[in-house]
Amino acid sequence: MNSITPVLSVQDVRKHFTLHLRSGQALPVLHGVSLDVRAGECVALVGASGQGKSTLIKCLYGSYGVDSGRILFASEQPGSEPLDLAQASPQQVLALRRRELAYVSQFLRALPRVGAIDVVAERLLQADPELQSGSADEARWHAAQTAARAQVAELFARLNLPEAIWDLPPATFSGGEQQRVNIARGFVQPARLLLLDEPTASLDAMNRRVVIDMIAAAKAAGSAIVGIFHDEEVREAVASRCVSLPAAQPERSFV
Ligand SMILES: Nc1ncnc2c1ncn2[C@@H]1O[C@H](COP(=O)(O)OP(=O)(O)O)[C@@H](O)[C@H]1O
Ligand SMILES: [Mg+2]
Repeated sequence: MNSITPVLSVQDVRKHFTLHLRSGQALPVLHGVSLDVRAGECVALVGASGQGKSTLIKCLYGSYGVDSGRILFASEQPGSEPLDLAQASPQQVLALRRRELAYVSQFLRALPRVGAIDVVAERLLQADPELQSGSADEARWHAAQTAARAQVAELFARLNLPEAIWDLPPATFSGGEQQRVNIARGFVQPARLLLLDEPTASLDAMNRRVVIDMIAAAKAAGSAIVGIFHDEEVREAVASRCVSLPAAQPERSFV
């Protein structure tokens, strides 16, 4: 793989939803999306609400299948061929998510009863090959957990999350606090492909600034980024370029 090869190559992706509550009616959402994203680039998806931006991000994260088209991801594993995320097995997708894909979703989904700092630290522990191989002893686990929590604490402080809530489960946090936990989880570990769905929607100006700096640092470190940025100021600060999703083909008229 050389530096010219895009990290992500989306080729003519089409997708519809089936609306089961409306007698199986088809709702076409992605109408032939193509785009390439290289290391160090941030591509902003633009378009009206309901155009399919979040749906595309979920396809890129391997959460949704597609009707047709390819989503080629060039892994950093030496010698590996690009993997089509649209065809990948759940195991392949989960392995990539542990080390190479990160996603900041619009809404935080966390396990109940786990404190915010551990919700984020878990991301670091999951990416540690020795811990995941089962060969680490208790002392190694303890050291890794302590180091991960310290790293997350630094990030939480940077995101101005009050220390009093770091150990509390995020379910009862305010929207802006949950969003910052989500951002910390997405950024705590360098990702080859970083997906951002309106990461600053609930943040005040000071925290928006922090997130802009974090996105700039991820670009400089070589992450490929695809994002949706509702806030124009944020978009202008971080986007290398903007991509509009193709509109629906007009119905063919028979005259
Ligand atoms: N899981 C789903 N099932 C059915 N329809 C969905 C689902 N997710 C999104 N949609 C519909 O697909 C369209 C695109 O949604 P979305 O991707 O969230 O748009 P955007 O992020 O551009 O605002 C909308 O009409 C939405 O209602
Ligand atoms: Mg959306």
